[in-house]
Order: sequence, then structure tokens, then C-alpha cells
Amino acid sequence: MKDILQQLEERREVARLGGGQRRIDSQHAKGKLTARERIELLLDEGSFEEFDMFKTHRCAEFGMEKDKPAGDGVITGWGTINGRMVYVFSQDFTVFGGSLSETHAQKICKIQDMAVQNGAPIIGLNDSGGARIQEGVDSLAGYAEVFQRNIMASGVVPQISVIMGPCAGGAVYSPAMTDFIFMVKDTSYMFVTGPDVVKTVTNEVVTAEELGGASTHTKKSSVADGAFENDVEALAEVRRLVDFLPLNNREKPPVRPFFDEPGRVEKSLDTLVPENPNTPYDMKELIHKVADEGDFYEIQEDYAKNIITGFIRLEGQTVGVVANQPTVLAGCLDIDSSRKAARFVRFCDCFEIPILTLVDVPGFLPGTSQEYGGVIKHGAKLLFAYGEATVPKVTVITRKAYGGAYDVMASKHLRGDFNYAWPTAEIAVMGAKGATEIIHRADLGDAEKIAAHTKDYEERFATPFVAAERGFIDEVIMPQSTRRRVSRAFASLRNKKLENPWKKHDNIPL
Ligand code: HXC
Repeated sequence: MKDILQQLEERREVARLGGGQRRIDSQHAKGKLTARERIELLLDEGSFEEFDMFKTHRCAEFGMEKDKPAGDGVITGWGTINGRMVYVFSQDFTVFGGSLSETHAQKICKIQDMAVQNGAPIIGLNDSGGARIQEGVDSLAGYAEVFQRNIMASGVVPQISVIMGPCAGGAVYSPAMTDFIFMVKDTSYMFVTGPDVVKTVTNEVVTAEELGGASTHTKKSSVADGAFENDVEALAEVRRLVDFLPLNNREKPPVRPFFDEPGRVEKSLDTLVPENPNTPYDMKELIHKVADEGDFYEIQEDYAKNIITGFIRLEGQTVGVVANQPTVLAGCLDIDSSRKAARFVRFCDCFEIPILTLVDVPGFLPGTSQEYGGVIKHGAKLLFAYGEATVPKVTVITRKAYGGAYDVMASKHLRGDFNYAWPTAEIAVMGAKGATEIIHRADLGDAEKIAAHTKDYEERFATPFVAAERGFIDEVIMPQSTRRRVSRAFASLRNKKLENPWKKHDNIPL
């Protein structure tokens, strides 16, 4: 009996070494942790339960039958993050470069199926050279099996991908279908085809970092939602994110203990909006002052900075925030910000996370590059996302809410539940100057008359009261009491029930 127990321990020891000490050392030398070290940091201590530790590949081509490492390049199982269950897979770059074989794919599929059945998030730690070249079409089939499960799990359980090494070919498409992608700076890459293929096909010379590094994907392509300094920080931030999310679409987000007075008054907010309507101010200040303990988890911080997206808690409950940022492009909506915010709104809606919208938007960004780029279709994504969302929606207009952008930003007409405005709000078709120049074109040569018309327009239209008189704004509130008003609004909506008409699925403009 003792021998058998001993044998199990020995087999485990070998399996834990993956591709061997030499390759582990090489992984460390690159500043990367091993697949197992990453799981240890991600999960609560001692909570990891492994599946399929001894699974091996079945390939007999290219001498592969002589090299069958236990586990086949991916470690899978489940554990907890602050006591809440998650499923995890972690690709082991020391085994055939973390490449995906038929059996490697089967291991991932097994935990994907269990996660959907048992209602817990899936976290993928990706470090893979893509399809295992020796296996040919079997590995392509394996990828497609994983993709199909990503699609079925979408909107059922949160899916989070962390890119922690090179991810080429098929290795990028599974993360692309998950809810959030995080990258590690300097050690992770994502591309469909690497620099060598790019050079052969297009003659472009580009480094891996330029083509698919963390900076490229968080600032230019928006494929990734965040970039972190190293493996340790990335994994700690995933733990922080998971704390905001429900385990699945049938559960409410977790309620955390909070140590912040919901009625907290913030006098400084009364002077947040500058006198001059063209002077910007930092909308993040409002977010931090409204949030429990000032804690804000930002998503896509480095992309389309004219809109801010992320999570806060109010009275311990998760709330998604979408906010125009007046310091960037005056807070205009454009193609990139519409896409960014639309995806965020849809994530919140599928996982029952209420949405707080903070509005200071002068309109859609004009110009040929926007029109040629399809701003109509992309702007419609945000409009569509807000309009279809059935979660509690609370909106605060701090300053400008002009034109179509007023409608889009969770207005009353898109089933906003509470639509508040600060006294500084200007809700109109457009700004006073532009409006005057159109409706008083005949007086354009007379500066005095134009100034008088502009002043008249400002007084009559650039206020929240016209909208409030019609009930499009539920209440004009004091800026200092925003946290109290918004917290109470969400509290009153905890049992909100709203259903859209039955349909197979909608046809959001993609
Ligand atoms: C099998 C692989 C492999 C792969 C790497 N290895 N990629 N084995 N299949 N796809 C092995 C290497 O042979 C090596 O083995 C070990 O992993 C480490 O690789 P290195 O090249 O030494 O590491 P590094 O220099 O860090 O470069 C990593 C890399 C590079 C950038 C990932 O290996 C690479 O370019 N690999 C090929 C990427 C690729 O073209 N994949 C197929 C994409 S097509 P030893 O024994 O020396 O340690 C695809 C189609 C799916 O994925 C499409 C679905 C939609």
C-alpha cells in the first residue's frame, strides 16, 4: 500500500515539473512565473483542486510518441478567490511552448463545461505558441471546441483572460471571445500572425512588441482591457476584478461590507464644474467621490479616454460606471468611445450589474474620419446597448447633454430609471453659440445682436429646467448630495423587474 501511495507522489512530482527544470529556469529568466506559480497567486491559498494532471497527448507523428509530459501543457481545475468559486486553466509554456493539442483542448473544454453547469467564472492564464504544429488538424479542431464553449458561456458566466506570454494564432481567438483581457507589459504578445509572417506577406518590418504588445492592445487596438507591470500585479488585479462580479447570470453581484456613509456629503462637488462652460474638469473626481471608499476599478483606462468605464460599489453593491470625460476631446462621443462604452454596458446588463451614467457630452465628434469610419453604426451600438439594458439605470447630467448624445447617454427615453441633473446642466439640441448662428443667421453681421441672442438662448435653454418641466429629468439635485441621491436611487431599484419582448436574439449593429 505504502508503495502505491509513494508512486502517486512520485508521479505527481514529475507532473509538477512540466517541461523540466531547464525550461522552468528559462521561464523565470524571462521574468515570467510558471503556470503553477500563477495559479497559486491567483487563488486563495490551498484552495486549488486539479483535474487531469496525468492526461497526455496521443500524437505519434514527428517522434512525439517518445515525449508525453503528464498534463500536456495546461493545468486545469478550480479553486476560490476570496472564498468564491472560479474555474481556471493555466497554460504551461515549458511543455511544447504551451501549444494546444487535442488533449490540451479537452482539458480546457472540461472546465468550461463544468463552469457553465455549476455557475462559476472561468479564468484563462494564456501562454501559448498556438496550435500544436505536430498535431495538425486535430489541434485546429481542439481550438474550435474551445471557441464554441467560449461562445456558449458568454453571458452565462464571466470569462476572464490573462495574456502572460506569447499568444499566437488560435491562442488569441479564445481570449477575444471572453469578457475581459488583461496583458502583462513586456512579456506578453497577441497576434494572429507573428512578425516573420508579416514580413513575408506584407514586407512590413515590425517587432513583436509593436505588433501585439500590451501597449498596442490597450492603447491602439482596444483588444485588451488593461496592462500590468508583471505577473504578480496582473493576477492580483484579476482577484480584485472577480470581487466585483457575480458568479453567473442567475446570481446578483456580491455585496461586500462597506465602511463609508451612503449619505456622505461632498461639498467640493458644488464647485467641480467651472464657470466657463468650455473649461474642462476631471470626471474621475466625481466617480471617486461617489464610490464607496473612493474605490474605482477602471476598464480600458488607456483607450478612448473621452469616455470612462469601470466598476465601483455603492453600499457594498457593484455598480458599473460610464462617464464622459471633459478633459479629453471635451468628452465628445466618437467611434472608439461608443464601442468601448457599448461593450461595457452590455457586459453589465448580462450580469445584472446596475449602471450609473455621468453625462457631460457636447455631442458626437464631427468630421470625415468619423463619418467614413462609420460613426453612425458605432454610435448606434451605444444607443442600442443602453436601450436594450434592463438593469437599474441611474443618470446624472453634470453639464452638457447636447443633441443625439443626450438621447444616447442613458436618457429617460431609453428607460432610464432615475435621471438627475445638477443645476449646472445644459440640456439642449446644441450649444448656445452654434444654435444662435443657425436660428439668427440674418443677424450674423451684428455682433451686439448675436451676443444678445446667445445670452437669451443660454438663459432659456442651457439649463436643466426645460427638461425637468417635461419630466425628462426627475429631479435637479445639489452636486454635494450626489452620492446620497444615487445610492438611494439604486437601493430603491433592487427589485426592479423589466423584460424585453421574447426574441431569439437582437441584431445590434456590429
Ligand atoms: C509545437 C511549439 C509551438 C507550437 C512553440 N513550440 N510553439 N511546439 N507547436 N505551435 C515549442 C518550441 O518548439 C520549443 O520547444 C518551445 O515550444 C519554446 O519555443 P521557442 O520558440 O524556443 O520559444 P520563444 O523563442 O520564446 O518563442 C515562442 C513563440 C515561437 C513566439 C511562441 O515558439 C513561435 O513562433 N511558435 C510558433 C507559433 C505559431 O506559428 N503557432 C501556430 C499558429 S497557427 P523546445 O523543445 O525547444 O523547448 C494557429 C492556428 C489556429 O494557431 C487557428 C485557429 C483559429
